[in-house]
Order: sequence, then structure tokens, then C-alpha cells
Amino acid sequence: MTRTHEPTSTAPPPSSRTIHRRVLLGAAITALGGLLFGYDTGVISGALLFIGRDFHGLTSFDKELLTSILLIGALIGALAAGRIADRIGRRPTVLGTAALFVAGVLIAAVSPNFAVLVGARVIIGLAVGSASMVVPLYIGEIVPPRIRGALVSFNQLAITSGILASYLVDYGLASRQNWRLMFGLAAIPAILMFTGMLFQHESPHWLVAQGREDEAREVLRRVRDQGEIDAEIAQVRELSTRRSSMREVFNPALRHVMIIGVMLAVFQQITGINTIIYYAPTLLSSAGLGNSAALLANVVNGAVNVLMTIVAIRLLDRTGRRPLLLGGTAGMAVGMIVVALTFAIGGSHLHGNTAYIAIAGLLLYTGSFAIGLGPVFWLLISEIYPVRIRGQAMSVATMANWGANFVVTISFLTLLSAIGNAGTFFLFAGLSIVALAYFQRQVPETKNRSLQAIEHDLDLPVGAR
Ligand code: BGC
Repeated sequence: MTRTHEPTSTAPPPSSRTIHRRVLLGAAITALGGLLFGYDTGVISGALLFIGRDFHGLTSFDKELLTSILLIGALIGALAAGRIADRIGRRPTVLGTAALFVAGVLIAAVSPNFAVLVGARVIIGLAVGSASMVVPLYIGEIVPPRIRGALVSFNQLAITSGILASYLVDYGLASRQNWRLMFGLAAIPAILMFTGMLFQHESPHWLVAQGREDEAREVLRRVRDQGEIDAEIAQVRELSTRRSSMREVFNPALRHVMIIGVMLAVFQQITGINTIIYYAPTLLSSAGLGNSAALLANVVNGAVNVLMTIVAIRLLDRTGRRPLLLGGTAGMAVGMIVVALTFAIGGSHLHGNTAYIAIAGLLLYTGSFAIGLGPVFWLLISEIYPVRIRGQAMSVATMANWGANFVVTISFLTLLSAIGNAGTFFLFAGLSIVALAYFQRQVPETKNRSLQAIEHDLDLPVGAR
């Protein structure tokens, strides 16, 4: 493997094949951050069942705290990572994130008491939040536009694979009741991420924004065709030498892009995905399914999530982002309506066919999320902001995503008891329809366009694009 700052002046220009391999490897290493994001958010559901064996007297509030404190950590991590990534660079930020992951999961695995475990979950949360921001940021900047959709969405594939892996690990380790190992296994991808990233390049866009064009050119020689380099540097330079400060994130001229990012973030969460990801087994078993059937349905749901993400990756750069986003969000609404109707008609206890119809509705919902709003949110926020504020602007959207996730996660069980299962899922269906109407009017197509061209267009008034 080649080191970042090794001199390359005598090396021949890379062939397209080499470009792809290098770029793919960089994307794959960084996407381990997504795997850890998925694993660490998913693992808690199973681990919760056994933690009480070692730490006696845990209340259900303690368990809620342990689950949701990670989301607060993630919110702070996303905020900090944007500033840090703009200041010291994307690469050191990814390295720091990987180091936090290693520290957090190892402390969780050996924690001698509950307080230490809560502290470890905060550290893991900081890493998850940072990864959720800096991974799509970095990948979006190192890959050529024609494959950016697919490669940025590697991250979503990694998140969903992490969730599925955690369900399988939880299931596999359940008989040994080994919650420490459930947490600790995440150290393996975290160490791989750290080591792999040591051999990766800094983002060429960030280098140009810092006035370090010679280094940017060195990096681009490895990951672009020779003919593309000058134009890309010139474009990034032009855009990054305009105004640049955190205040700009709130500059009226950028307000509409900021609002689009935050709306995508909030809609991704308030349409209910994590009520399914975190609570599906609880929901299904309390609706009358046996525990093992509920766990099996959960694994199937996790697998559909992964498979449909793969379909999305194949399609994003062909059909474009908008058709998948709009079609997927419509599918989510239909899925939620099916689930709500089964509860409305069958009551809170599902039997026979109604249980299967509810599960089919859940699978339709998750599959539709995975083909649209899941990957498209993370992709668009790596594409629509001007480079000079990209890190900070992505932080704002990512924080909004974690904040909305926290609110939904903490209130879901209360919502179920207040307005019932049917009412809750009708609410998510209604919110999916509102999201669809908003996306239809406001979200731009970014397929196959350079980040610079997208930025140029978004600078124009809506009518002039
Ligand atoms: C969301 C997560 C969610 C996951 C499910 C991601 O895009 O941001 O909150 O758990 O998708 O696949």
C-alpha cells in the first residue's frame, strides 16, 4: 500500500483500474466507521437483556439511559467532528474517531460498574456521531462524481450490515449471556479502521481549501485521470476562496440549502425507522408473536435492510437520487399504513394472518427506507453544501438527525401507550406523506454532477436553476 505523502513525481499516471481500486479501498476503510455506527446502535437491544446479571438492581430508566445516552454522545460527536474536520483535516479526524471507537468498546467490555458502562456508551456515541459525519464527507471528496452516489452509499450499506451483524451476534451470544463480548467484538473493525486509515490520503478538496494545492495534486494523481485534475483543483479553489466562516452556515444566501439538509435529517428520523430498528422484537412479541419468531422476524428485517441498500447502491448513479427518494418514501407510507391497519383491525394482539400482514408491512417499510431516505439523506448532505462550509454544514444536518433520533427513541414507548399501536403507526404514515410532499418540491437531483456544479446551481435563486 502507498503512504499519503510519498513523492510520486516519477510514478506513471494511474490507469482507471488502479484509480478504482484505490478509491474503493479508501471508501471501504472509511466505511468501517459506518459498520461500527450500525453495530453499536444495534447491539444494545440484545445486550440489555443480560447486563442486569452483573449490575444488580438496574431500573428500566437505567436501561433507557444506557440506550439513549449514545444518541446524545453522537449529537455532540457530530458537532465537534465537523469543526475538527474543517480545521485539522478529514484524515486525522477519521483516525481520532477510530481511536475513540477502540477505547469506548473496550471500556464497555471490561466496565466494573454501571457508571463506567454509561461513560463508555458516551465515548462510543461521540465516535458514532463523528463517524456519521466524517465518513460520507471524506468519501464524497475522494471519489470521482460518476461513482460518488454508489461509494458514499457504501456507508449506508456498512451501517445496515453493522445492524444486521449486531442482531446476529446478540442472537448467537444469547445462550452464553455474554454482553461484554457483544460490546467488545466491535474493537476488531475499529482497529482495522485505524490501521487502514493510516495508509490513506488526506482529502484533496480539503487540501485545496487550505491552499495546499501541491499536496492536493499529488493525491489527485492517484485517484483521478490526469486530464481531470487541473479543472477540479481550479473549481474547488474558486469556491473555497469565497467567504468562509461558521457564521456562513447561517448566512441567508445559504439558508435554503441548510434547511433542505436539516429537513432531510429530521424526516429520516420522525418517519419512524429506529422505532423498528431498536424496538421491532419488543413490539412483535408484545403483539403476541413468540420470542423466537419475533427475533427471527427482526433478523429478516435486518437482512431486507441490507439487501435493499445494495439495490439502492446499484441504482443511485443510474436513476438518480430523486426517483429513489420519492418512490422509497411513498413505499414507507404504504408500509406504515399496512402495519397501522392490522393493529386497527386486529387489535393490539395479532394472530395468524394479521401477524404475517403486519410483518409484511414492516418489511415493505424497511425495504423502502433502505432504497430511498436511508442512503439518500447521507448522500445528499455530502453533495449539496459549498466546500468552504461543507464540514460544518454536514455537522448541523447530522446533529439534527441524532437529535430527532433521540426524541423519537425516547418517546416511542410513551406514544404507544398514549395513542395506541395503530395511532402511532398512522402518525408515522402521515409524517411520511408530509416528507414526500416536501421532497417532491425542494430536493434537487445531484446525479452525475460535480460537487462544484451542484454548488453553483444551489447558489442561484430557485427559479433560475
Ligand atoms: C439512519 C439510522 C438508522 C439506519 C437504519 C441510517 O441511515 O441514519 O438512524 O438506524 O439508517 O438502516
